[in-house]
Amino acid sequence: MIRAVKAEDLRVGMYVMLGEKAHMLPLFEEEFKISSDKQIINMIDKGVTFVDVDVDQSDVEVPLPDFNPIESVGQELRETIEDASAPPETKAKAVYDHSIKMMKHVIEEPTAENILSGKRMIYDIVDLILADDDMAACLTQITSHDYYTYTHSVNVGMLGVLLIKSVFRGSTTHNMQELGAGFFLHDLGKCHVPADLINKPGKLTGEEFEEMKKHPAYGQEILAETNHLTEECGHIIVQHHEREDGSGYPLGLQGYRIHIYARICSIADVYDALTSARAYKEKLPTFEALRIMKEEMITHFHRELFDEFVMLFKP
Ligand SMILES: [Fe+2]
Repeated sequence: MIRAVKAEDLRVGMYVMLGEKAHMLPLFEEEFKISSDKQIINMIDKGVTFVDVDVDQSDVEVPLPDFNPIESVGQELRETIEDASAPPETKAKAVYDHSIKMMKHVIEEPTAENILSGKRMIYDIVDLILADDDMAACLTQITSHDYYTYTHSVNVGMLGVLLIKSVFRGSTTHNMQELGAGFFLHDLGKCHVPADLINKPGKLTGEEFEEMKKHPAYGQEILAETNHLTEECGHIIVQHHEREDGSGYPLGLQGYRIHIYARICSIADVYDALTSARAYKEKLPTFEALRIMKEEMITHFHRELFDEFVMLFKP
């Protein structure tokens, strides 16, 4: 066997192992780099059949196996979920933290591959929320209150799934996994809105608001282009800013014309916006946010769905 000798060895060169002993090959007494085919042919002529390369001393980049950050986050999450000894609070925290990492990747780079990996992870999260009541109960307590598109997406994703769990309980006519994907991805189109507009402290000008109003259409386009536009995702993404009284956008739809999936998303969306801190406003506590939604904004929401949403926060 031939090996390249490491720098810390006393002698450099290439050795042949004969039994337990290393013998310097006369041909390779000098340290050298392989830089031509001729050298390789020469080595083969001398009977060398195996070379152990010291990668640390090589200029050649060794290719790493394909790394998909979302798949890896999903794998870590699965391990925590499958740990039967983990308390529900720990599982809820793991689900939340891993979801944030996943959404960050998806929103920063909404490729077909990332959306697919993200959806797979969301499906696991939806299944877990549906199956594990104790863990699901903890989720309402741990939503983060920093307003970034990806933390907001995860908060709305979680709250949306908790609400469909209670509204569609026992029903088999709804694809809960795809609905979950729709809630998590509802603001995906914001990745095409300029960042300074998304993060602008204070009120948007008329022109800026017109640009912001395009994010439902952008989100729909991205999912269509990447072949991930299911019926559930479509309704949620396109209509989540429509309001029951017709005051929403992009179409100003009223009441029953707004799909129930989008009505559910709009409640979670507004609640999270109120309870998150922005550069120009304090976050509101849960009770205060729910009070404002009921007393000042109730015409925006489907009444029974809103009442069901309030029940999620009952201790
Ligand atoms: Fe939105």
